[in-house]
Amino acid sequence: MTERTLAIVKPDGVIQKKVGEIIRRIERKGYDIIDIKMVQADEALLRAHYAELADRPFFPGLMHYMMEHPVVAIVVEGDNVIKGWRTLMGLTNPTEAAPGTIRGDFGRDWPGDEVRNVVHGSDSPESAQHEIKLWFPELNN
Ligand code: TYD
Ligand code: MG
Repeated sequence: MTERTLAIVKPDGVIQKKVGEIIRRIERKGYDIIDIKMVQADEALLRAHYAELADRPFFPGLMHYMMEHPVVAIVVEGDNVIKGWRTLMGLTNPTEAAPGTIRGDFGRDWPGDEVRNVVHGSDSPESAQHEIKLWFPELNN
């Protein structure tokens, strides 16, 4: 089934100059890029994006990490892309993410510091629709 997801190259991915490599993996998998832009996320956007995590102990660190540099937001379309993009990303914790996944290859998990895991991907059709609206309010199809 053709669907859309929101992919984000997080600050550490942009700083490490992995944007091209990540886009290459998206295209190699056969997915289509529908829209793409660089965004300096602010607190309001991130609070809406990560609303369900607001009470978690790591939330302040996550907010700080996500605002430390502009990110690249990408609307990706393809067959089963919500699950497929998460497979390309790998597990949340880079130390558990398999080699060959984006997080396994480029992520870092420093004890006592934020999880820096390079990329974001929506986790369901509902969150994909919500997140695409949040990050691309100008995109109306
Ligand atoms: P989550 O939505 O659970 O993971 P994913 O990005 O794989 O969908 O969490 C969002 C982000 O919050 C995650 O990418 C990194 C951060 N995070 C932590 O820093 N520590 C944690 O224990 C968890 C669960 C998430
Ligand atoms: Mg998530």
